Amino acid sequence: MAWQPAFASGSLAHYSSLMDSCAVRLCDMLEGAAKEGREVDIFRALGTMTMGVVGSTAFGIDFHTLDDPDSPSAEEGLRLVKASQTVFSSASLVAGTLYQPLMLFFPKAAPFVQWLARTLPDKKLLQVSQARATVREVGYGLIQNWRSAHPGQAAAGADKAGPPAAAKADATLEELQGEAPGLLVQAAARAGAPKATFGGADAASGINIVGTAKRGATDVEPGSFLGLLLRARDHASGAAKFSDATITAQASTFILAGYETTANALSYAVYNIALSPRVQERLLAEIDAFGRTRQVTHADLGEFPYVEAVVKEALRLYPPATMTSRVVSKQEGMYLVPGVTVEKGANLFTAPYCYQRDEAYWPRPLEFAPERFLPEGSALAPATDDAWTPFGAGPRMCIGWRFALNEAKIALVRLHQRFSFELRPGQVPLKLRLGMTLSPVDGVWVRPIARGGEGEALDVPPSAAA
Ligand code: HEM
Repeated sequence: MAWQPAFASGSLAHYSSLMDSCAVRLCDMLEGAAKEGREVDIFRALGTMTMGVVGSTAFGIDFHTLDDPDSPSAEEGLRLVKASQTVFSSASLVAGTLYQPLMLFFPKAAPFVQWLARTLPDKKLLQVSQARATVREVGYGLIQNWRSAHPGQAAAGADKAGPPAAAKADATLEELQGEAPGLLVQAAARAGAPKATFGGADAASGINIVGTAKRGATDVEPGSFLGLLLRARDHASGAAKFSDATITAQASTFILAGYETTANALSYAVYNIALSPRVQERLLAEIDAFGRTRQVTHADLGEFPYVEAVVKEALRLYPPATMTSRVVSKQEGMYLVPGVTVEKGANLFTAPYCYQRDEAYWPRPLEFAPERFLPEGSALAPATDDAWTPFGAGPRMCIGWRFALNEAKIALVRLHQRFSFELRPGQVPLKLRLGMTLSPVDGVWVRPIARGGEGEALDVPPSAAA
């Protein structure tokens, strides 16, 4: 995949310091609520952080999602957050466009359904088309800014001519086809196809480089994911390797894949920590042993086995991608259950949400017990390692899994260095919605309670101090 280098260990180490800086900014945002005893929807707050992480790691850009929401600079970033939320919430078999279940359950009728969608798009389809266009606009705007700043670097392929036309309902529907609950793999793969559509060019206004005025206000950081794609050259000809449409599609994939899933996972972790004094006590003890004000660097990530176990347990009980799928490519020898043959071309679904809660594999399956993932908890460990696959499995497994785990650990440590969280009553059990991911219907409402003494500041990482 074009962006493999972005997930190499050197890149991940660099990202950790950017993640740490976003987590500290989230803590600063929560400070006011803690002082006033105000409740916050930690799911949405974490979403602003994960989008901030996408901006800084993928593009070297500050989307301003972690600014005061009323500040003018936050407007563009929050537009992006809102668009991403719409993409995720609209991709629901129940609450999404009517055409999506039709495509899924009657794949042979796809051309007709697409024609119908183009002729008579419903409200949900129009909404999600527009939201996807907004996400793409951001990627496209960043690319154009980079091209203006680097006039010698022509785009590859057919899209030198400028932005394609506005988002189309049938293209969106095609993208949604595989996005039955949680089918992120198709979402990602389809967004990666060079078939992007755009709604306008000047979307990058208001977006600035992370914490520095050294580069132009809308330039893309050289070592960032987008920088890698823009600079990639064909060895033989020296020409640009990727077209703008391909790069834009990859950028939207990163935005969508990196935003909601990690915010989901983190909010389920915060929810379960707040719910269980036993889990909270052990987690805080591990964090306090590390240090209540220390910066979390990449090298420190191994110091938090319990925090990692909490994230894994949250991903077990509440996998953001509740299903994954594959298309059967061969007829011969395809037996899932002895004696059952599946047709070539058939869609096969696996449902981690089900087997990760199945007592056939997990002792006391509905209990939140992070120690399952630690050596001392072997009595609660799964019967087989294959019973835990929140990131999928095999060659098409989530490419961002380590990135996501690192981000979740850093965020949980930073949050709990500074606060504990009290759950608003009436949220047990948590009401969940199955859109493109499994998300809390009404958010996760908590009251942050400051843990540190007055005036106790966190170390500021060098990237944020620049
Ligand atoms: C907790 C967070 C995340 C979860 C639960 C998650 C889950 C998944 C799942 C279940 C798949 C499908 C795998 C399969 O079919 O076997 C997937 C694919 C993918 N994910 Fe993630 N993901 C997360 C975070 C991320 C992040 C942060 C990124 C990028 C920054 C990312 C990028 C991708 C991509 C590009 C694919 C498609 C891979 C391919 O088709 O080869 N994911 N993810």
